[in-house]
Amino acid sequence: MKRLLVTLAALLPLCAAAQTLRIDTGAEGIPVQPTMYGLFFEDINFAADGGLYAELVKNRSFEFDNPLMGWKTFGNVEVRDDGPFERCPHYVRLRYAGHPVMFTGLENEGYFGMGIEQGKQYRLSVWARTAPFTVKGRKSSKPAAKEFVTFHLCDDDTMEESQMFADEVIEVVGSEWKKYETVFTAPCTVPDATLRIFLETWSEDGSVPYRKDCCVDLEHISLFPVDTYNGHDNGLRKDIAETLEALHPGVLRFPGGCIVEGTTLEQRYQWKNSVGPVENRPVNMNRWNYTFAERQFPDYYQSYGLGFYEFFQFAEEIGAKALPVISCGMACQFQNDPEDHPHAALEDLQPYIDDALDLIEFANGPATSQWGSVRAQMGHPEPFGLEYLAVGNEQWSDEFVVRLRKFVEQIRGRYPEIKLIGSAGPYSGGEWFDELWPQMREIGCDLVDEHYYSWEGFYERNATRYDNYPREGSKVFAGEYACHGSDGKKFNHFNAALVESAFMTGLERNADVVYMATYAPLLAHVKGWQWRPDLVWFDNLRVLKTTNYYVQQLYSLNRGDRVVPLTMNGRPVVGARDQRELCASAVWQGDSLVVKITNLSDYSQTVEFEFAGMQEVSSGTLTTLHSDNAVAENTLDDPCAVVPVTVPVDMTECPDPSNYWLYGWYKAGDGTPRFKTKIGGRTFAVYKFK
Ligand code: AHR
Repeated sequence: MKRLLVTLAALLPLCAAAQTLRIDTGAEGIPVQPTMYGLFFEDINFAADGGLYAELVKNRSFEFDNPLMGWKTFGNVEVRDDGPFERCPHYVRLRYAGHPVMFTGLENEGYFGMGIEQGKQYRLSVWARTAPFTVKGRKSSKPAAKEFVTFHLCDDDTMEESQMFADEVIEVVGSEWKKYETVFTAPCTVPDATLRIFLETWSEDGSVPYRKDCCVDLEHISLFPVDTYNGHDNGLRKDIAETLEALHPGVLRFPGGCIVEGTTLEQRYQWKNSVGPVENRPVNMNRWNYTFAERQFPDYYQSYGLGFYEFFQFAEEIGAKALPVISCGMACQFQNDPEDHPHAALEDLQPYIDDALDLIEFANGPATSQWGSVRAQMGHPEPFGLEYLAVGNEQWSDEFVVRLRKFVEQIRGRYPEIKLIGSAGPYSGGEWFDELWPQMREIGCDLVDEHYYSWEGFYERNATRYDNYPREGSKVFAGEYACHGSDGKKFNHFNAALVESAFMTGLERNADVVYMATYAPLLAHVKGWQWRPDLVWFDNLRVLKTTNYYVQQLYSLNRGDRVVPLTMNGRPVVGARDQRELCASAVWQGDSLVVKITNLSDYSQTVEFEFAGMQEVSSGTLTTLHSDNAVAENTLDDPCAVVPVTVPVDMTECPDPSNYWLYGWYKAGDGTPRFKTKIGGRTFAVYKFK
């Protein structure tokens, strides 16, 4: 009997009529914000140093808490702290090793090695000077007129005779600190190379092989691919940046996340430390270094080489609105007991508010202003045109509200045009969420940042999440969301992407309330992650677009300008049981009508589009994302396991519209074009008609 019921259920669509989706193409429809689909960048999972930021040398300024972390030294190497850069004072002094057959030098391990590609060029730069050789603290010589330092790119694991596969020599002239550069051309590809540095102890005329008074100081040892994104010197890894650009994001939220807050206030992200010459940007321990006992990365620091100027520049170049997040004077609430008074006292809040005001000046002020001049000196005299600012990340409680209020008062007073973003806390609902929303409205936040990492069921059932939000007042920024598999497998598998696509029809339908949405986290190094799933994975040479990436991309490429009402029996299509688990939405994009539809059921269904208000539909394309395997995922070795497939829509006439199994076009009695189509089970489909 049980088996019979199961069989009947499976046959249900056989007896059913096609689901008719009425698309009111003539309705005015609500506008979709250009910011709707964007990026949330946080330096988690080695997303910045070791990831998007193209620097290959780890701890280039010897400023980690252990100044030699990331380095091996040999011979006679001393760390010193009276270097030329005030906020990065450490450097290394290299001296004669003490024996004619011994070498002095050091070797950097990079971030899980250094990704070097055959035929590509890599620019090495270093600050250096000749130094007086000292014995037991006594000066024993004047600095030499010049010294030589050799740089080797090495493959430490090779079975070849030589580990070194490329080398360059720099001649260090004089005892003043100067920047030196040389360029390697890689003869081969090595995904995990190292940079080995030798003090050369030749005499100046080459007649004496070893000079015992040889001594040189090195600081800020840096290696970048020459070919960075848009060719910037302190640039971004091109393949990763282009992968992000290809999402056509409307907004870029940065620099996090939890890293904005800091475990302690001292460790919060301080944007002023991230601008100006890179050599003088102090490092900060990354809070993802130690967050999970089961995934420790003691060498995870923020160099701030990818700092606020670079974020603004990147946002501008990819056509996204910049959305910086700034500390509200509260350390991470998850990591601190309020009894310990971890936050800035109210009477001490002004410097934090000043940071926000100064940031706006940095982004938008004239080149003659204090902070605008910093931007101008860095190469961008024109304002960046900042429009949005978030105060605090995942905050809650009255402690937050009272602080936020003070920020808002002063920012509104000075910069009324800036749109401010408050927080709805870390969860999709619950006590904090329910308390915060009315408070954010009352304070007058333009947007409220909601975060929800949840299981499949949440996304399947929440296409209606925003249907009943108030239409007036603060708008929604879904600032962090991702489906985390309920089986505990937090992979970027197809099923997670599918339910996200269903949920996102609800974002689109509610574009008058939801102004921005960003999947999180964005980037992860396969050897350095703390959190998954993530939208884009990479190793030192390759980048991987997850199935979730393709869902985001299908939405952003087909964002549209206006939402078109789409209904089934007069109701929005939200995955209800009597809607056979279909979720759908539609937009006008120029003169194209885009219909997004997710079939969450296991079976193929016949669906009929009724193009109310249209006379003719002349062409179309259909893009589908599907896998028979719910847990299929793209990997670096199999990047195309689940990718979208686009085909032209068959424009031929339906031979018998009353037959459930026959597809194609026909016209209803009133002349309305109708299109019958089949949507496979567990499929996300995007139709684009003209
Ligand atoms: O995205 C990872 C983390 O999740 C973010 O840093 C934080 O805002 C959230 O808790």
